[in-house]
Amino acid sequence: MRVRSPEFDFTDVSPRWGSNLEAVHLVNAQGMIPAYIEPFLIKVMRRAAEELDPLADAELLRDIDLFNRQEGQHYRLHRAFNAMVRDGGYPDMADHEAVFEQDYEHFLRTRSLRWLLAYCEGFESIGSTGAELWVDGQMETELGAAPSPAVELWKWHLAEEYEHRTVVNRVYHRLYGRPRLFAWLYRAHGIITASRHLNRRTAALRRYLLDVDRRGMTDEQRRLSEERESATARKLGAANLRRLVRTFSPFYDPARTPPPAGLQATLNRYPVPAGRSKSA
Ligand SMILES: [Fe+2]
Ligand SMILES: [Fe+2]
Repeated sequence: MRVRSPEFDFTDVSPRWGSNLEAVHLVNAQGMIPAYIEPFLIKVMRRAAEELDPLADAELLRDIDLFNRQEGQHYRLHRAFNAMVRDGGYPDMADHEAVFEQDYEHFLRTRSLRWLLAYCEGFESIGSTGAELWVDGQMETELGAAPSPAVELWKWHLAEEYEHRTVVNRVYHRLYGRPRLFAWLYRAHGIITASRHLNRRTAALRRYLLDVDRRGMTDEQRRLSEERESATARKLGAANLRRLVRTFSPFYDPARTPPPAGLQATLNRYPVPAGRSKSA
């Protein structure tokens, strides 16, 4: 694991950054996720770190630190991406973001550390198993997107999601791995909880983003757009689900998730700043 600090300039990027508008807004809506879930992940991991032993768990604590610093970079840049979308004609996106942010404040106030970690591990499972869709180019093909800082943001992010895929899983099992049967069922429940929550919030935002664009459409254009929206959501949903299904196994170990073919080439594009190189 390395902490990289790339910069992506979205000044010249349009919120409609690919030719498949419906797919682009699906991704724009998903862009809300890291901006709010990742600060939450960092808080949960800090809370978990307090339960670990500074000596016996020293390696895991080092990995938590690297994980948190990677997620810190992710949400910083995704907030810039989201500002590009919001300021590009979708001001009410802020309302969706406020609701989503409040969800995490609520979770942190009311849920147990076991629940929080299972939710976080659910999210990490979704990200790391789906990383190849971005890293190996299927997503940009689906989006009809030319090379741009928007595409690079997602590729870099998902490559690092793959890179740090084991950390939350190890923390969860270190703190709540026994009894094994319960730990497995509870982890699986966390995947479902996270998926449902994220789908619900991003579907509402996607609806808003597409509604704004459909205001200028004829009835026929709108009908075709709605058809493309359903087809795109079904296709990408199925692609993600095919990869996610293995995480429900009691023997799931993210360390054994096969890497995207282009993982190393993607990560190599973002060198580690001098003096900040660390590995785990
Ligand atoms: Fe991330
Ligand atoms: Fe992550």
